[in-house]
Amino acid sequence: MLLVAWPKSLKALITMLNQPASRAAAAMKESGTATERATRKMQPFTRTPYPTPYFAFPCKKLLKEKRVVLPVSHRISRLLYPRLTVLITTCDGSGKPNVAAFSFFMPISFDPKYVAFSVAPQRHTFSNLREVGEFVVNVPTFDLLQKVWICGRYSGRDVDKFKLAGLTPVPSVKVKPPRVGECPVQLECVVELMREFGDHWLVVGRVVAEHVEMLEFDPILHYSGDRVFKVGGIVDVKL
Ligand SMILES: Cc1cc2nc3c(=O)[nH]c(=O)nc-3n(C[C@H](O)[C@H](O)[C@H](O)COP(=O)(O)O)c2cc1C
Repeated sequence: MLLVAWPKSLKALITMLNQPASRAAAAMKESGTATERATRKMQPFTRTPYPTPYFAFPCKKLLKEKRVVLPVSHRISRLLYPRLTVLITTCDGSGKPNVAAFSFFMPISFDPKYVAFSVAPQRHTFSNLREVGEFVVNVPTFDLLQKVWICGRYSGRDVDKFKLAGLTPVPSVKVKPPRVGECPVQLECVVELMREFGDHWLVVGRVVAEHVEMLEFDPILHYSGDRVFKVGGIVDVKL
């Protein structure tokens, strides 16, 4: 019974899951031959009420119980948000600079200052970090959004993103990679640790020099894909 209603391909399954439960149930009802449709008794259908799953799989135990429950896994960036977006600058052994956008980023320690971010090994930034264990964290303001997106959609392997985005490389004081002149906060860092976790590598850096032009500005808060948040306002909490 269940197999008759089952979508024919993974693509069809994902399309079905992306529909509201009522439409998905209707889609199931409409599939199969006329006789199958006429004789089919609908199974109870439940699904997680979240938007756009990106991967879904049938659970054997529940299928045995004839319950069409589909556990759905969501991109972690759609679960943990918003995240501060930064521009990380690096350079290769010959000193050729690169700049890329990162939002899997976090502070680790007040004193001394440590920061961490997560980089996929396909990134040119990753190769640069392996070659020259230094980087600069540059915090862009919201008005730099288009430039930041260029840094997050093109690779330094193919283009000079400083030129393409119209950003100004400024020599750093203690590390080889340059800073981004347009960013009000720039932290020069030395890599202390790089370790693989799943599909990304965690990079921990010790801040060796800091440049702060402004303390209050509108940062870019990343959601997922091409969507960002703007800071809505400041709330001082009193207990
Ligand atoms: C807002 C934003 C945030 C991003 N965050 C990350 C991230 O945390 N880790 C990562 O590996 N890639 C991230 N990316 C993707 C890289 O910026 C993108 O692949 C870029 O082209 C890499 O450049 P590179 O090859 O010059 O290093 C992000 C992209 C955008 C637009």
